[in-house]
This record gives sequence, C-alpha cells and structure tokens, in this order.
Amino acid sequence: MNSLLFVLLGLTSCYAYSVTPEQGLQSSRALLSLYQEFQSQVNHEYDPAEVSMRIKIFRNTLKSIAEVNSQQSSWKAGVTKFADMTEAEINQYRGLNASLFTQGGEDPVQVVPAKLGSSLDWRARGHVTPVKDQMGNSCWTFATVTCIEALYKGQTQRLVEFADQELMDCVYPTNDAGRNGRGTYNAAFDWIKKTGRLGLRSEAPHTGVDGPCNYRGKTNGLAGYSVTGYRNTDINEGGIVAGLTQGPVAVALQTQGSRLDIYTRGLYHYSTCPGTFADHAVTAVGYTREVIVIKNSWGTNWGDRGYLFWARGQKGHNCMLYHHGSYPLLSRSAEEEVEE
Ligand SMILES: *[C@@H]1O[C@H](CO)[C@@H](O)[C@H](O)[C@H]1NC(C)=O
Repeated sequence: MNSLLFVLLGLTSCYAYSVTPEQGLQSSRALLSLYQEFQSQVNHEYDPAEVSMRIKIFRNTLKSIAEVNSQQSSWKAGVTKFADMTEAEINQYRGLNASLFTQGGEDPVQVVPAKLGSSLDWRARGHVTPVKDQMGNSCWTFATVTCIEALYKGQTQRLVEFADQELMDCVYPTNDAGRNGRGTYNAAFDWIKKTGRLGLRSEAPHTGVDGPCNYRGKTNGLAGYSVTGYRNTDINEGGIVAGLTQGPVAVALQTQGSRLDIYTRGLYHYSTCPGTFADHAVTAVGYTREVIVIKNSWGTNWGDRGYLFWARGQKGHNCMLYHHGSYPLLSRSAEEEVEE
C-alpha cells in the first residue's frame, strides 16, 4: 500500500510535454517542437552558434529515453533538465570523491530484522526539508545537511535548513585545485564534530563552489547540540534499512552509466549500471518493503519531484548504493543544558 502510494504520487511529476520522447524522434519538426518546449521550461542559455550541437545532444537523449522505456517496465525515463547537457556539464551535478572517504566512523547499531516495521518515511514525519538544486560539486554537502536536519528536528521539534555552503567552504582547505569542490559527507560529519558548529542556510546562500571559510559571527544553528561522530552502515541493503530506523542515511552511488539523469518515476533498477566507483552523494529518507526512498539534490524538476525510488531486493552491485552508507550522531551538548 505504502509503496503504491509513493508511485501514484509521482504521476504528475516532471515537466509535461505535448510531444513524447518517442514522437520527438519521428521527424525533425517534432524534434524541434519538443526541444523548443523543453527550452521554454528550463531556460538554458546558449550561444546561438551552439544550438545545433544542443539539439544533437537532445536527440541522443531522446534515443536513450526510448531505449530505456522499451526495456524497463518498473521505471520511466523522460526529458529532464539534463537532456541537452554534455557529460562534462552533467558532471557538475555530482561531486562525490570516493577516494576522500575517511577511515573513521563507528560500526552500526544492529537492528534485529524482526523489529523493523514494514515502512518508514522521514518525510511523512516532517523531518525532511524541501529538495534543493545543487550547483557545483556539492552533492555531499546536501547529504550531510539532510541527515543533520532530521536529527535536529527529532531533538528540538524544529525543522531548520542548515548551511550546505558552509560545508563547501570549510570542510576542505580552499585552493585544493585537484579536488574541484568534491568531497564526502563523512568528512563533513567530522568537521561539524570538530568545530561544534553548522550555520543556517538563510545566512549562507548556496553557490556550490568553494569560497572563503569565513563564518565568524554567523549563527551556530546547532547551538546546544553536538555531532559526536557517525556510524557506517553494513554494506548491504539491510544495512541502509537498519540505519533508517534512527534517521536519514547519507549514501553514495555511481550515476555515470546509470541512466539516472533521465529517471522520472517508478521503481528504479538498472542491471548494467557499472558499479566500479561511487560519484554522487544522496540521502536515503525512507523505505517500504519494495523501495528505498532517496532524496536527491537535482531540483524538483528531475525524478519524482526530486526523489528517486530505488527497487529493493535486486541482485548485483546496485550502482554501489549500499557501499558507503553513514549517518551522524547528534546529541544535546552537556554545557548548554541550563539554557532555554
Ligand atoms: C579526488 O581527490 C584527490 C585528492 O584531492 C584528487 O587527486 C583526485 O583527482 C580527485 N578525484 C576527482 C574525481 O575529483
């Protein structure tokens, strides 16, 4: 019932077009008309000289969409904002550097499978802020704040948006040119633990690129609470599900070669996803018996209003999804207990 609901909710997601991707491939007039409709929705700004190159990319994307839709029945591919972008441009919407995963983290608390409910959704509990649209290689900052926001809500009853940009500016030294903004959420958990702070999003507008780490004088949104560390989940589906019982779980997956850029709704699985290295951080925020609900940071005009429904119970590497799960630990700071 629950998973059916998730799927039904998705029927109106994404852009509506008067021409289907399959029809767009049938004539150059249909292609052009679909591309114009797409442009009026996304407003990508291009030099007139590159428009024909963009239409070529768009046409190739339509082919991929048609191919996926003819092979899969559980999920639908469609036109998303990535449809006329080059691979290098799409790569700016990732940002995990798996080689920067630190060795830290505690082992997970084991949950007896019989004690797991059949579903859980941190969105329904009001612990999840709206889907963001990342710019730059900042996926890992959004996975971090999504976890912290939910735990903070659990402790304070207040749903606050924390400053993803502060993590981008501060977790790694600036001018580390090879890193190019990429990072990991567990380094961010460590940074919050070490500094004892994380600002508010309202005071730190998102740019998605490394800037100076200068947050002195800015509100500490965590005042009174501390991140005391993080736990890594077991490297399997059950590990993520067990982790979800305490709050959202930051996870990494391989999006290159996964066709996720054209995912629009349904139960996602892609058996030929490469599964060699994770390149993108997202956050698991719920599960049912059939799906793991994943919050992405590609805006609400991608996927199912910004969400991805991952089919459970699939064999294979699952695009690395189960390899790098971790979640922070948040508790009330002892020295602040007299306040409020
Ligand atoms: C990952 O980080 C290392 C260390 O900064 C860097 O050498 C490497 O090029 C980075 N890889 C990517 C894909 O950004």
